[in-house]
Amino acid sequence: MWPITTISNYMKIKVSAPGKLMLLGEHAVVYGYPCIVTAVDKRLYVQAEIINEEEDEIITPQVKESRFALESIAKFKENYKIKNSVRITTNGDFSHNVGLGSSSAVTVATFKALSLLFGVSISDRKIFDLSYAVNLKIQGLGSGFDIAAATYGQTLYFIRAGKAIEPLNNELLPIVVGYSGIKADTPYYVRKVAETFKAKKSEMERILKAISYLVEQAKTSLKVKDFKTVGRLMTENHNLLKNLGVSTDKLDKMVTTATSAGAWGAKLSGAGGGDCMIALVSEGRRRLVEKAIENTGGEIINVSNNAEGVRIEK
Ligand code: PMV
Repeated sequence: MWPITTISNYMKIKVSAPGKLMLLGEHAVVYGYPCIVTAVDKRLYVQAEIINEEEDEIITPQVKESRFALESIAKFKENYKIKNSVRITTNGDFSHNVGLGSSSAVTVATFKALSLLFGVSISDRKIFDLSYAVNLKIQGLGSGFDIAAATYGQTLYFIRAGKAIEPLNNELLPIVVGYSGIKADTPYYVRKVAETFKAKKSEMERILKAISYLVEQAKTSLKVKDFKTVGRLMTENHNLLKNLGVSTDKLDKMVTTATSAGAWGAKLSGAGGGDCMIALVSEGRRRLVEKAIENTGGEIINVSNNAEGVRIEK
């Protein structure tokens, strides 16, 4: 047992980090191409306190999140030579089932909370790097786009491992989000793409490169708020994801029905196989698009985007 030293102004601290939605560029980002991700206003909360116990304590609704919290504590303590035990309690505005990135938000929020608790000043870049290392250790794969969104918030142009993290636009994007009802298995789909990549390298490279062109065009269009063009690029991105073999009939149906109802464009968001699709819509068409998605059995998730990154909660 280690004496509790007064290390900072806090004995207990609560922080939160946002979830995310991939706007364009999933899978290609794993191969070094860029993507665009937006942080959503559904947040994950982490409360941290120093405890007088031998062991750290994690109170979290799901096992997966507790692994990320435990690993983050271990890494923080090792880096900053901390001996005290801590209790981490998590809760969230969203279910881990919808694919908004609860594990990365827990990781980022845990590092931020511990840094405040122990009076260690760490930059957002350092929080990103430490969190990405935890993510790679547990999952062995991933670009880190979700960690960037949880750390910095906003809408970001992002390249794997944080080679580029560039905020694009400080305004809300007019999105509609539909949940497919199926929890996606991200590692499975990342491996599936990797296997196909090995078998059909030149064809896959052509698709991934084509996705990266769409991302570059969307980056330019987002900066001037040309949502009509961004929508068209999203639909093209969805079609390329279909060619990669990661979409499903349900997601395809939700996407086509959204565009038929007047969305500027739509696509699946994330690894594929399930989770959410997003549509870009004008206010006048929003209700129609939402209805159309619901008619295919999709569930509308009310999220706003361009949310603030990791922050202290009162
Ligand atoms: O399934 P999600 O929402 O975690 O998104 C995965 C996105 C990938 O590009 C397939 C993987 C990654 O880490 O970038």
